[in-house]
Amino acid sequence: MIESAKGARDILPAEAGRWQFIEETARAIFGQYGFDEIRTPIFESTELFQRGIGESSDIVAKEMYTFADRKGRSLTLRPENTAPVMRAYLQNRMGRGSEVTRLYYMGPMFRYEKPQKGRMRQFHQIGVEAIGSEHPAIDAETIEMLMSFLSRIRLDKLRLVLNSVGCPACRPGYRETLVRFLRPFADDLCRDCRRRLDVNPLRCFDCKVPADRKRMREAPAMQDHLCGACREHFARVLGYLDAWSLEYEIDPRLVRGLDYYRRTAFEVLVDELGAQNALLGGGRYDGLAEELGGPAVPGFGFALGEDRLAMMLEDREEPTAAAEEVVVIAPTEAALARALLVARALRRGRRRVRVDPQPHRSLKAQMRRAHDLGARFVLIVDDETGGRGGLTLKRMADGAQETIRPDEVASRLEAMSDG
Ligand code: HAM
Repeated sequence: MIESAKGARDILPAEAGRWQFIEETARAIFGQYGFDEIRTPIFESTELFQRGIGESSDIVAKEMYTFADRKGRSLTLRPENTAPVMRAYLQNRMGRGSEVTRLYYMGPMFRYEKPQKGRMRQFHQIGVEAIGSEHPAIDAETIEMLMSFLSRIRLDKLRLVLNSVGCPACRPGYRETLVRFLRPFADDLCRDCRRRLDVNPLRCFDCKVPADRKRMREAPAMQDHLCGACREHFARVLGYLDAWSLEYEIDPRLVRGLDYYRRTAFEVLVDELGAQNALLGGGRYDGLAEELGGPAVPGFGFALGEDRLAMMLEDREEPTAAAEEVVVIAPTEAALARALLVARALRRGRRRVRVDPQPHRSLKAQMRRAHDLGARFVLIVDDETGGRGGLTLKRMADGAQETIRPDEVASRLEAMSDG
């Protein structure tokens, strides 16, 4: 039997209710802050990610699903959505007429990673991008919105961790300082870090090898090498967060896996998630638009791992698949056509109604099935019931039942719902 591809999974109806709850809450809160939805394509030209995320990132170096189409164009399944959203913003001239354009998205992303708990090859992000301003209030307000969202879905035990990763004025100098520090131990570093040392030494902070981690704890931190403008920007972001009494930690060694970040970088970590403890990540990307060939347009955003969030809500009693409101039973083949007609009328009145053709099963078996489906009402459409075309309406909670005429179904249902 054919199964789903490695690293991809089904979200079954029992879980889908939780996903809907997360998405509906996100839409409601993001909307309150003036964010509008954008839907970009699942595949883009490969160059968008090479230039946007950067050749030195793990994503571009080894995790992309890249293929040639029939005309030989190189396409890539989106591994993230910040570069595509910036592309869409530039291409559609979305910035005209407004200082800040606030966009959100939700959907699947693809990375060829080693699957494990909380890490998939097809995973799902809910993300936001505020494009057009480099003001620190944008960073702070977007983080505040995020924390409101997380508290609305009653998540606690989170850690908001921030850093500033500098800008083209101060990062090159810091990079040299870091390389000077690491060079003498280069032979002791893991193979990945030896490669990183040449292409992007800041990525060594993300190494999981214990010996390297220990060494990196002693490494000079970006925080101490920021230029005046970056230092002030970061202080102002923190100033807003302090004013709103938002709790955060500063991790001077926090670096992000994508090359476009400048200044503010942040993550929300959840220890109970285990090894893949990053619930979300984000930051400022003021150089991305130019990298894509556009004008200088600053931006700030984050993306949340929806699979990880849904996992955290697993033991919650959030709504799962909706229970059936009315199950209509047709005990005979002859009654089925009428049953479907009654069901159609009820649905027009906004009821959730289910009819399963199974006249070969006994009435008792069909009643048991309705009970298992969580039906509030059962409507038995039987030519024999109550003589000439009567129907039986039964309230499952207490077994109360009435014999009614077809034209009474909606009104009796209404009356019995209140009873
Ligand atoms: P990212 O840190 O690469 O950032 O991904 C954001 C979140 O997506 C992660 O914190 C994690 O929860 C989830 N995630 C990433 N990879 C996987 C995976 N293989 N399986 C399950 N979940 C995963 C970005 O993607 C940036 N575009 C965020 C951003 C938006 N920065 C500015 N704006």
